[in-house]
Amino acid sequence: MTRLALVTGGTRGIGAAIARRLAADGLRVAVNYRGNEAAADAFRRDTGLPALRWDVSDHEACQVGVTRVERELGASIDVLVNNAGVTRDALLHKMNLQQWRDVMQDDLDAMFNMCRAVIEGMRERAWGRIVNISSVNGQKGQFGQTNYSAAKAGVIGFTKALALESARKGITVNAVAPGYTDTDMLAGIDAKVMEAIKAQIPLGRLGRPDEIAHAVSFLVDERAGFITGTTLSVNGGQYLA
Ligand code: CAA
Repeated sequence: MTRLALVTGGTRGIGAAIARRLAADGLRVAVNYRGNEAAADAFRRDTGLPALRWDVSDHEACQVGVTRVERELGASIDVLVNNAGVTRDALLHKMNLQQWRDVMQDDLDAMFNMCRAVIEGMRERAWGRIVNISSVNGQKGQFGQTNYSAAKAGVIGFTKALALESARKGITVNAVAPGYTDTDMLAGIDAKVMEAIKAQIPLGRLGRPDEIAHAVSFLVDERAGFITGTTLSVNGGQYLA
């Protein structure tokens, strides 16, 4: 049976690598994106995979989006990867409410919205895989990221609670906590700050998106059915959780 996977924020960066990998693993894959049409077109052209537009921080839009994916692909979502997320880095004494809210809405509310939209179907069908993308910075805290560290730590707590609720229904819920990975998200970081960060990574380099995708693929695999509620760190040794 071919499983259907949905990857949020799936047209670029880590999300696109996850989508490609799950497709290579033999799953049917659809991705979601919020607004970057050029990236979505390039993704569709390169992969042939469907990319559907909605804002995962919008609760109703997620309900409609999931229904659309399932109707357009003629199948139910078996695998959900909550990957979409943003940063709004600032020291707390300079952070404004919008920077706090953007991160909470995109990195934490979105996970609730998407899980809520698929969980009843997974429970009825008694099978599911949910993988939530957290971050090393949710595990260890990061200077300049009270918002992001809080949201990504929240992802781990949510994952554990939903894993407990879902276990009897054949649904596993796990988190992957990437370290610093070579994507657009790092583009805004000052070069000097970036050097200091790299110096804290025992493997001496940034992660590659396909290395994060490999961890997701492992957790989604049929043979990973006994793994639930865990957080798999992929961070080059930067933080040993
Ligand atoms: N620890 C201790 N002190 C630090 C520090 C650190 N890690 N980084 C900076 N400081 C110090 C600075 O030296 C400076 O000290 P002085 O005032 O004595 O000179 C002071 O703190 C203020 O620092 P900045 O001048 O950098 O402050 P700023 O307001 O201009 O910038 C910032 C703050 C935007 C948070 C900037 O430091 C920054 O970009 N940091 C990187 C944050 C980061 O790692 N983001 C990760 C994004 S990627 C991601 O999140 C993906 C993922 O999951 C891993």
